[in-house]
Amino acid sequence: MKVTVVGAGNVGATCANVLATREVVNEVVLLDIKEGFAEGKALDIWETAPINLYDTRTVGSTNDYSKTADSEVVVITSGLPRKPGMSRDDLIATNAGIVKIVTENVLKFSPNAILVIVSNPLDVMTYCAYLNAKVDSSKVFGMAGVLDTARYRAFLAEELNVSPKDIQAVLMGGHGDTMVPLPRYTTVGGIPVTELIDSAKLDAIVERTKKGGGEIVNLLGTSAWYAPGAAAAQMVEAIVKDQKRIFPVCAWLQGEYGLKDIYLGVPVVLGKNGIEKIIELKLNDGEKALLNESAGHVRDVMGVLDTMTANA
Ligand code: NAI
Ligand code: 2OP
Repeated sequence: MKVTVVGAGNVGATCANVLATREVVNEVVLLDIKEGFAEGKALDIWETAPINLYDTRTVGSTNDYSKTADSEVVVITSGLPRKPGMSRDDLIATNAGIVKIVTENVLKFSPNAILVIVSNPLDVMTYCAYLNAKVDSSKVFGMAGVLDTARYRAFLAEELNVSPKDIQAVLMGGHGDTMVPLPRYTTVGGIPVTELIDSAKLDAIVERTKKGGGEIVNLLGTSAWYAPGAAAAQMVEAIVKDQKRIFPVCAWLQGEYGLKDIYLGVPVVLGKNGIEKIIELKLNDGEKALLNESAGHVRDVMGVLDTMTANA
């Protein structure tokens, strides 16, 4: 079984490394446009195999899509990352061009592949891939919620001094400052989080989560990669092993949550067919209002892409 990761930069190489180390598939192909870059990263990863004791092959390719042929899943991380002072939306023009061409190339060689989009602005790049892929939306979706909930869970684990393994959470909406963490659906070892932490501290963690990407950009001068790469790899694992995991995923909505024709983060069941089910939670009025606000922001940026496409 083979998985391709397009973009051998920080996020893509980390994702490939996690997939290989965890032996999620037999072969991981890393592809990048920069001459020799993916080959170098793939070789370096492969040279960890005797140390980390796994046998997944990692193969690099400079823009030769024939090496990606018959991939079950393709993770698209190609594109510019954020620099300090930039929002994810500032990346739209450059990254839309990259995501379009990559999607077309990937599907020429792997027409049945499931596409997991990572490039930012995430919700709109997923929409861009969907418009160009012309396949069922259950096979084109984006990674953001797994990362955003991981941040939320990590912050809670730190505050409560408990294992992050015991924190379960769901978060909805776009991948940006309007994302909607849902304390009402957050538990710690089965206990509602609201019984363990006072509301001011919980509110502060929710706010920190919404700005979690920016916190790392300000520290590093570029965006995060360890957690994003691991998050994308966890989605790939759920698909190739048909695990039926429930994750927040950027999915195409067709009336769910009262929203239509929009890519937005919602809880889904992930398995071998991609998104096998969108789970509809009974949100209260406050939660619905936050989700609608987030959807409004995503729609605005989708509109920018639609205008760019119409004028191209
Ligand atoms: P990076 O700059 O380290 O890597 C991007 C790679 O894409 C580069 O190696 C570049 O050569 C390659 N690339 C550019 N055009 C290409 C093309 N046409 N074909 C193949 N490869 C191409 O950036 P990094 O940090 O890996 O981030 C990648 C993207 O993921 C960014 O857009 C970033 O904003 C996004 N991101 C999304 C997250 C999410 O939660 N969805 C989290 C973190 C990053
Ligand atoms: C992140 O959330 C910037 O989307 C990137 O780390």
